[in-house]
Amino acid sequence: MLLGIETSCDESSASIVQSAGRKVQVLSLSTFSQIEVHQPFGGVVPEIASRNHLETINLMIDQALEAAQVNLQELEAIAVTNRPGLVGALLVGVSTAKALAYALGKPLIPIHHLEGHASSIFLKDDEGSPSEFCDEMVFPLLLAIVSGGHTNLYCLREPPERWRLHFLQESIIGRSRDDAAGEAFDKTAKILGFPYPGGIWIDKNAQKGNPKAFPLPRALPQKTSFDFSFSGLKTAVSILVEQLKKKNQFEENIPHLCASIQEAIIDSLFHKMQYAVEEYQCKSLAVVGGVAANSCLRSRLNQQWQRMNLQVPPILPKLKYCTDNAAMVGAAGVFRLQQGHFLERHEFLELNAIANSES
Ligand code: KG4
Ligand code: ZN
Repeated sequence: MLLGIETSCDESSASIVQSAGRKVQVLSLSTFSQIEVHQPFGGVVPEIASRNHLETINLMIDQALEAAQVNLQELEAIAVTNRPGLVGALLVGVSTAKALAYALGKPLIPIHHLEGHASSIFLKDDEGSPSEFCDEMVFPLLLAIVSGGHTNLYCLREPPERWRLHFLQESIIGRSRDDAAGEAFDKTAKILGFPYPGGIWIDKNAQKGNPKAFPLPRALPQKTSFDFSFSGLKTAVSILVEQLKKKNQFEENIPHLCASIQEAIIDSLFHKMQYAVEEYQCKSLAVVGGVAANSCLRSRLNQQWQRMNLQVPPILPKLKYCTDNAAMVGAAGVFRLQQGHFLERHEFLELNAIANSES
């Protein structure tokens, strides 16, 4: 049984998880989302994020322990996101985890945030498994981590109990050259006047719109590159919105703009995943991270996976495990603990919060 802690951006989250074979059972998950705190600024303000983590993380840990009916002494280890993210925000989680592990005399497990997202495919809870087909996962697996900070494709050949420490660096086959997919949702939503984070607003409003209303650019369409580029989209949307406003046609077209933006982003993601599955002969596909919560992406993958020549349906975590949460950090911790990858008390001082993804 492990405590997972996540404070890399604007979610203060704690979770108690337990190993369950290749899956990880979520016993409790307590998350305080700071979205409303940052909304007036149109994005996350790092200093405000750190202060809010400081005020809420202990409460989240207490709530998670209580909901799981577990006491601190019963924990086997503590897992915490230590990179990448806002360094001040990460530091709050890392310091909390260090203090707890030190006081309890338990192992401490530093987790890369993206390894946390990758591990979300193994989470299950009382309401069932997030991905019913997880047991049947076949390799190679194409893993797409699609969030506000990353749009990365990985070809994974091994199950989590054999993941090497740097498997993410070793298995990456494509990434965004500029904006991440979630960032593209957020920036275009801002141009349309929606609050931060805009992905969910585009998703909701797109349901009433025509995805073909406005043809928007798809960068890097070639089959041979698995990289993405989304920065041209926001320029195209901003020019389009200006033109519509001049003609007094903006308001009536909001649903069509949302549907067209969503179509452009999801279409790029979908096609690159399709090409990567072909090229690397992947047998299964998993999509994780905040953008994996997008309803259009989920339904397209659920409808078209057979045409992509996948052997099993796509693995898509439940919505609450797509966006940032501590259960996924706990799951990554379970696998690391099983492999003996953890820090002992005398090594705790070496652990730091690191802003970047690789070094
Ligand atoms: O994984 P996440 O919570 O944080 C990062 O690690 O970045 O992802 C947040 C991103 C935001 O850009 C947000 O707009 C996007 O996920 N997102 C969505 C949806 N829900 C969240 N994008 C599209 N459709 C959604 N339903
Ligand atoms: Zn994330």
